Amino acid sequence: MNFHIMTLFPDMVMNGLSTSIIGRAVNQGYLSIEAINIRDYAFNKHQSVDDYPYGGGAGMLMQAEPVYQAYEHIASKLSKKPRVVYLSPQGKTFSQKMAEEFAKEEDLVLLCGHYEGIDERVLEEIVTDYVSIGDYVLTGGELPAMVMIDAISRLIPGVLHNDVSAEFETFQDYLLEYPQYSRPEEWHGKKVPSVLLSGHHANIDKWRREQSIVRTRKARPDLLKKCIEQGLLSKKELQFLKELEENSTKNT
Ligand code: ADE
Repeated sequence: MNFHIMTLFPDMVMNGLSTSIIGRAVNQGYLSIEAINIRDYAFNKHQSVDDYPYGGGAGMLMQAEPVYQAYEHIASKLSKKPRVVYLSPQGKTFSQKMAEEFAKEEDLVLLCGHYEGIDERVLEEIVTDYVSIGDYVLTGGELPAMVMIDAISRLIPGVLHNDVSAEFETFQDYLLEYPQYSRPEEWHGKKVPSVLLSGHHANIDKWRREQSIVRTRKARPDLLKKCIEQGLLSKKELQFLKELEENSTKNT
């Protein structure tokens, strides 16, 4: 998978993506990440890429032409028109499902805005997807682009050495992950749950599923509702949930 990031701050994204798992995946050739500096496509001698908005209002806008030229430079090297994601609080909220869908692409262009945004006309011409990473406003699209790249990359075969971990974790079936423990067996007076030391795999799996249900019910009842609606809980798990509900009403 090849990521092409259009930005005014190439160092920010390249530094952020060159370490840890993503950096290793790039070094091993599972991914490529390039940052295209939109300022390199400025058409005036001051290399400015922003201007005042027509009609007035606060702040400056990124102009259409440098963004368009930067895009043309990327697109001209590719065999087919790539999907172009514009990171914006006005986009569709990013989700695991969207990450899975984007992970199927060979090339993905991520367009990072700054100032008060980008001239609408170039967005109309090049953008295929508008994506937000949540209901809050950041100073630019770089951090959201990095979030997307991280979430998409770990789904690419080979990026995580352990393929199982991408498959069986949080959000896969609308349940949050169960708690995990490592050595020592006792820390600050807290013991590792005995079932995890039992070596009985069926009991361990059952305990983990139940813990996932407990956690999801507490932190994300909206997800648990979806999980039930999709029929993803077994009869026994539904019974466990019912008992959980009964106990909590008894205790209140
Ligand atoms: N740019 C500024 N805020 C953003 C957000 N929440 N998501 C995506 N892009 C953004």
